[in-house]
Order: sequence, then structure tokens, then C-alpha cells
Amino acid sequence: MRAITVEGGRRLRGELTVQGAKNSVLPILAACVLCGGVCRIRRCPRLDDVETCGAILRHLGCRVCRQGEDLLVDSSGMDRWDIPDDLMRRMRSSVIFLGAILARCGRAELSYPGGCELGPRPIDLHLLALRRLGAEIDESGGTLRCRGEGLRGTEIVLSLPSVGATENAMLAACGARGTTVICNAAREPEIVDLQRFLQKMGAEVRGAGTSTITVEGGRRLRGCCHRCIGDRIVAATYLCAAAAAGGDVCLKGVDYRHLSTVIAALQQAGCRIVSRDRMIRLTGDGALRGICPVRTAPYPGFPTDAQAVLMAALLRSEGTTMFVENVFQSRYRHVSELARMGADIRLEGRVAVVCGVPRLRGAAVRATDLRCGAALVVAGLQAEGTTRVEEIRHIKRGYGDLAGDLARLGAEIRETEI
Ligand code: UD1
Repeated sequence: MRAITVEGGRRLRGELTVQGAKNSVLPILAACVLCGGVCRIRRCPRLDDVETCGAILRHLGCRVCRQGEDLLVDSSGMDRWDIPDDLMRRMRSSVIFLGAILARCGRAELSYPGGCELGPRPIDLHLLALRRLGAEIDESGGTLRCRGEGLRGTEIVLSLPSVGATENAMLAACGARGTTVICNAAREPEIVDLQRFLQKMGAEVRGAGTSTITVEGGRRLRGCCHRCIGDRIVAATYLCAAAAAGGDVCLKGVDYRHLSTVIAALQQAGCRIVSRDRMIRLTGDGALRGICPVRTAPYPGFPTDAQAVLMAALLRSEGTTMFVENVFQSRYRHVSELARMGADIRLEGRVAVVCGVPRLRGAAVRATDLRCGAALVVAGLQAEGTTRVEEIRHIKRGYGDLAGDLARLGAEIRETEI
């Protein structure tokens, strides 16, 4: 079993280019099946979730090959419309293939998706969107059997702006005849990236980034080349790491406007941050202060995916900070692990209150999910002694080389076999 070992107390210094966004690349890889041609996805991070997408695409009969930072997907030979249960369980995003396969093949068969344990993660809105487009979905026996040979454009109103449901609706709508309007759509930058990709394929999609997305379906699609946006959550992780450890770090390849709430929180905590276009520089001495309540919300609110790493950064801050998790029901599994390192966090339902402590001590801790793992590493960078983060398979789902990147910035951190 592999672990990440961190010796706390080193400052971080240097420059880093942030990887392509996981949450962009996964729906884009699913979208590749729409065109029946060759797509080149540039800046495709090396992540376990990307591997899983590759395995799904190959199972469907597509050819997938990596060329350095690029992934090439040829969906011309696609001859299946099912996804085996073991691939579905590996990640939540496997469900985005549903809309794409349905649009391409007129049918799809798959089981319920897996992914990080963040409380119940229903897919009712995904299914509602597809049913609105005319798909018939049989959910008996844990398998989703979908038929939709004649999907028709319509209005889809999402009761909450689910990222995945918005993406599934966009992909399926590309294969529907006529106009689809998605209301209360998610506004995340990754949705905008998906729209740009679909447009390059020849699809008529507009409105991404706002709450109303319109798709004129039935266009002839072709292969294309697309470069993914930078990963704002990975960037948030490195900013929180630098804020906690102190130092001077410059991140490149990510749009600072995608991180405005994270940057504002770290500035309030006492960090100096300057940013322009695709560069963010943080300087700080590691001494932070508590900040106004952090309430997670759909974009452009504070990202739920950055809640754990910001919390970890504030563990030694002067004063207290309240966190309110509004997106997922149970996204505080990092709290009990952080407590093993001496953190003082009071938890009640959706609210966690961090009371800064003078010092953290290294400990053996366990990544229970992807962002929990990243938060434990951020805590380890500022703890006295050695922290060993176990179960790093969760981290590898979303970070290409977390330990390597932080080591390049001067942290004493490495991956070890235990
Ligand atoms: C995406 C991100 C994930 C991020 C999340 C919220 C990807 C691959 N993953 O996940 O990193 O944490 O957005 O920003 O992009 N919900 C329902 N019914 C549904 C769908 C969702 O009730 O059919 C609820 C969920 O339980 C959750 C909330 O809506 O409470 C938001 O979920 P959603 O936006 O769908 O997140 P994901 O697309 O799964």
C-alpha cells in the first residue's frame, strides 16, 4: 500500500504549472463518443479517473491513446452501449456517459455510479433531464436500461443546479431533434469548457456560464482538438498549502477568476495574493487569522471541493472560523482525521467551527476521500514531525502528482510503500 509522508515546517517557494481540470476532462472524454471521429484532448491530466474514462471508452469500442499530455479518442468504431458495473463503481462521473451514449446509440445500459462518499448522491436530476428529452428508463434490479431513439428537444428545469445533471442534459440534447433549454443550469467553469468543446465539434450550444443553456440538437458532429482549462481545485489546494506553510509560490496555467472566493478567503486570512490572467502568486509567513464564515455554494460561490483544504490551512490560525457545507450532506470526513493531528474542530450537522491551535503534531492519518487526502497533506506541511497519509488511492483520482509538485516547491514530502 502506498502512502504520502510529510515532514512539517518547510516553507514553500517556486513556480508550478497547474494540471488540466479533472472535472473538465471527464465530461469532455464522455462527449468524445458523440462525434464518431477523432478528438485530441490536450492537457489531459494523468489521473486514475481519467484511466477509468479510458477503460470505459475502450469497452465501448473506441480507440484511446496517450501522446504525452494529450489523449486521443477515436470513437468511429464504437459498437457497444453498455458500461460494466466495475467501471461504473470506480467514479461518480461515469454517469455522464449515459447522456452521451444515449445521444450516439439511441440506447444505453449501465449501473449506478460510485465515487467519493460525501453522503447520498442521487442521480434523479440526471434521469429527469433524460426523461424530459423522451428517454425511457427502466431502473429495476440496479441497472439503468435506457432507450431513446427519437429524443426531442424540450425545456428542462433542474430543481438545483447540479453540475453532472447539466452536463448529461447538454450531451443528450446534442442528439435530440430541435431546441433544448436547460433552466437553472450549473454555472461552473467546467460547464463552459464542455460547451467550448461541443462547439468545436460542431454542436450548437450557448449560454454556459449562465443559468440558461440552449442546445440546438441534431447537428452533424466531427472530431476536434481541445485544450482543457486549468484545475481550480488543484490550484486552491496549492494556495492553501502555501498559505499554511508560508512562503512565496507562483501558480501558472489557471484562470484566477475561477478562484475568486478562495483567493478572497486567503487574503482575509492574511496572505498577500496578486493575480493576473493565468498567474496567481501567494506570499505569506504561515501565520493566519480566522475569517468570516465560509459557506459552500454552487459556482460562483465558495467551492465545496476546496472546503477541506481551506479548513486544513486555518487549523493554526489566530481565532475561529465557521464553515457551512451547503452542497453535500456529509462532507466532513476529514475532520476526525485532522483531530488526530491536534486540530480543534467542533462539528454539528452542516456546520464546522475551527478554533485555531498553536501547533499541530504529525500523525498517521487516512484519506477517506479525494479532498480529505489533500487536506491531510496541507495539515502535514504545518505539523511538527512526520505525518503519514494512508489510502492515497483517493488522492490519485484527482491529483497527478501531489507529493511531487509540493516537493518541487520545497516541501519535504514523498510517496512511500508501506
Ligand atoms: C461535481 C464535481 C464535484 C463537485 C460537485 C459540486 C465533477 C466530476 N464533479 O459533482 O467535484 O464536488 O460537482 O460542485 O464535476 N444532486 C441531487 N440529484 C442529482 C444530482 C445531484 O440531489 O441528480 C445533489 C447532490 O447530492 C449534491 C448536489 O446536488 O448535494 C450537487 O451535486 P452535483 O452538482 O450534481 O455534483 P456532481 O456533478 O456529482
